[in-house]
Amino acid sequence: MKQSDFGGRIRFGDRPRPASRRDVLKRGAAAAAVVAVSAVVLPRFAIGAKTPVKVGILLPFTGVYAKLGENITDGFLMRLAEAGNKLGGREIEFVKVDDEANPAKAVDNTTKLVKGKRVDFVIGTVHSGVAAAMVKVIEKSPKTIMICPNAGNNDMTRDSCAPNVFRTSFSNWQTCYPMGPEVAKRGHKKILSVTWKYAAGQQMMDAFFEGFRKAGGGEPLEQIWIPFEDVEFQSILTKIAALKPDAVFSFFSGSGAVKFVKDYAAAIDRKQIPLYGPGFLTEGTLEAQGAAAEGIVTTLHWADTLDLPANRKFLADFKAKTGRTGDVFGVQGYDTGTLLLRAMAAVGGDTAATQQLIAAMEDTVMTDSPRGTWRMSKSHNPIQDFYLRRVEQGRNTVLGVAHAQLDDPATGCKL
Ligand code: BEZ
Repeated sequence: MKQSDFGGRIRFGDRPRPASRRDVLKRGAAAAAVVAVSAVVLPRFAIGAKTPVKVGILLPFTGVYAKLGENITDGFLMRLAEAGNKLGGREIEFVKVDDEANPAKAVDNTTKLVKGKRVDFVIGTVHSGVAAAMVKVIEKSPKTIMICPNAGNNDMTRDSCAPNVFRTSFSNWQTCYPMGPEVAKRGHKKILSVTWKYAAGQQMMDAFFEGFRKAGGGEPLEQIWIPFEDVEFQSILTKIAALKPDAVFSFFSGSGAVKFVKDYAAAIDRKQIPLYGPGFLTEGTLEAQGAAAEGIVTTLHWADTLDLPANRKFLADFKAKTGRTGDVFGVQGYDTGTLLLRAMAAVGGDTAATQQLIAAMEDTVMTDSPRGTWRMSKSHNPIQDFYLRRVEQGRNTVLGVAHAQLDDPATGCKL
């Protein structure tokens, strides 16, 4: 994405020009002048206000989740551009880092942003394992606020919840729990699950079977786990065909979801063995999946066909800005922008007013989100509607609300 796509005076600070000796001298003189003036007249914030707000963006821009990172970023920047590219009256400097959806690099990447670049906010990330590592760094840096625009790791807003960690997306539990009763209602009994073996896959499968069990649906027939980022599905599909379950429940996302849905359609008759999952199976993927996705039923907190003025505007603006079709990831980025704008307006741009920033975020009631009304829970996770959707003619048609204003159980969170 080009900076000019969003207009305004946003500065991208990820590749700073090395300071020349002259720069250093100039800065030294300026700093000395500032100290002299501040000692006499200006309060601390009047000086801080002149500097840009530093926003770290830690998202995947390579690998199977690359498109998710791109759409979150574009939704976020689009929202800030709508508001004139200022936060509480201050300009914004971005530091953008590719986390590669790699948990092993996450502590290092987050530390570089927090301690090295001294960002005020960290926007990230997509992958639940990376997010868990980020929280470990952020909770030790109480003046930095993290807003998670996707990763659904339940723990972030349960046992590991922290005053300075917020999420604008979902918990993994929320996305799959409502599908349990739905699949049971459809009369399916023998369910096989298949997903990537990492926190998100495990938590989503647990949530689905929790709901399925409660609705009288019983235990899993078989659970298949594959390493994260593997997209070789042939042997799994052969196994599914041999086991003949009543239905399959699955989580994949990004380019992994494109490949899985296409391979599934090529190997298995979906009329005999229907495929269900959280909406990530068919988000940002429908153009690439084509006919292979038709008829897939999912649950999610948004749908492209949601008939709301804010959603129609979001989709039209996102298309105009990026040339691409908006998806749930773009919406989450967009709402992250709204949250940040409102909180910074509430403190008049004073990033040092951490308690007031946190209070403003905790008070959030979003009435103008493309996904419909949602509010922030006590544990800092959205309470929101989950829709039942079916792919029809290349779009996720809303069949109804699977669970209205669903709150995560937030077990162990003491906020
Ligand atoms: C996760 O790792 O939490 C995740 C990744 C992609 C889509 C949804 C959740």
